[in-house]
Amino acid sequence: MFGKLNEVKVLRDPIHEYIHIEYQVIWDCLNSPEFQRLRRIHQLGATHQVYHAAEHSRFSHSLGVYEIVRRMVNEVEGLKEALSEEEQIEVMLAGMLHDIGHGPFSHSFESVLDFNHETMGALILMGESTIHDVLVSHHPDLPKNIVDILQHKHSNPILNQVVSGQLDADRMDYLLRDAYFTGTSYGTFDLERVLRTLRLHDDKLVVKESGVHTIEDYIMARYHMYWQVYYHPVSRSFETILVRFFKRLVVLNAVDPGISKRFAMFGPFFHEGYPTLKEHFELDEAACLYAFTLARKESDEILKDLGTRLMDRRLFEYAEVESPQQIAAQRQNVIDAGLDPEYYFALDMAVQRPYSPYQEKENSLIWILNTKNEIKELSQASVLVGAIVRGENKKDEKMYFPRETAK
Ligand code: NI
Repeated sequence: MFGKLNEVKVLRDPIHEYIHIEYQVIWDCLNSPEFQRLRRIHQLGATHQVYHAAEHSRFSHSLGVYEIVRRMVNEVEGLKEALSEEEQIEVMLAGMLHDIGHGPFSHSFESVLDFNHETMGALILMGESTIHDVLVSHHPDLPKNIVDILQHKHSNPILNQVVSGQLDADRMDYLLRDAYFTGTSYGTFDLERVLRTLRLHDDKLVVKESGVHTIEDYIMARYHMYWQVYYHPVSRSFETILVRFFKRLVVLNAVDPGISKRFAMFGPFFHEGYPTLKEHFELDEAACLYAFTLARKESDEILKDLGTRLMDRRLFEYAEVESPQQIAAQRQNVIDAGLDPEYYFALDMAVQRPYSPYQEKENSLIWILNTKNEIKELSQASVLVGAIVRGENKKDEKMYFPRETAK
């Protein structure tokens, strides 16, 4: 038996109106320092450099995912009955804690450190953390079972589909939330109708045939959000500089041991392997911003310039990649301007398909249930999604360089 709060806590939220917290263990996790840290990490990394209102955090997204899981458990036909109370709580916690391992400006951070936020999340849940102690105090098996859900290994296959699949609480929350905070309308779809047409069928989450159009809308929302928001060339420009700032720190560390002291917040960049839990906990975006201001005072011209660019939003210019000659010419322009192309020239390719059944594991496909009680994979049941799946991948390759080197 899991303890309940004296009264249900109700948190206001612009996407779900209210987020309802009924169990003590959920409330205790919310109040742990590791979860509170998520307030200091933007949900969308550098996107607020383009969409200025996209200041929302991983904290609010994580609560939103929790709320969608809570609603799925309570509202999807057949789901609640198929789960024990312990499993219901485990899956709600998995929704809430799925992003606990994120570093600041996640993508740039992960590309430099060879770091995976899911692995880090498991280390936090299983290791010496307040959140681990909170979970164990409610039930000794909670940390392991939550990690199993997040890694798709839980013994109950139903749970593995709820938090991360193709039609999951994580994506449903971030599409709606990111659309709201960027002020774009592309990411919207009818969450109420998705919840109403989801069913449990032979241990699979499926969508009733009458919900197909809502799911098409959800797939299109993903497609548009990727190209309009997530892969926006200006946020990729900020990330390009950020990655080079981190790389410069690592290079300087080899020749200037003082760097690792002056930039102690970047401890994980100065040793092999994963960040320690302490390092991870201390490294948030507030620490990064402080580091960029420190860089302004450094004698190394590259670190100083990159840090200043990040603070003042003096981002790199970009151009569509057209030919190898054009790439070589622009790279040469950078060299002619006296700049090191390692830091001042970048190629970046974005590729995305909003739904690709052939690459997915079976339990993360979207299944449609027809009136004869038969199930079909989504791209077989929807002409629109079928066309997207069979079409070409959309690609976008750009090169980045300082404005003053463009000719
Ligand atoms: Ni997430």
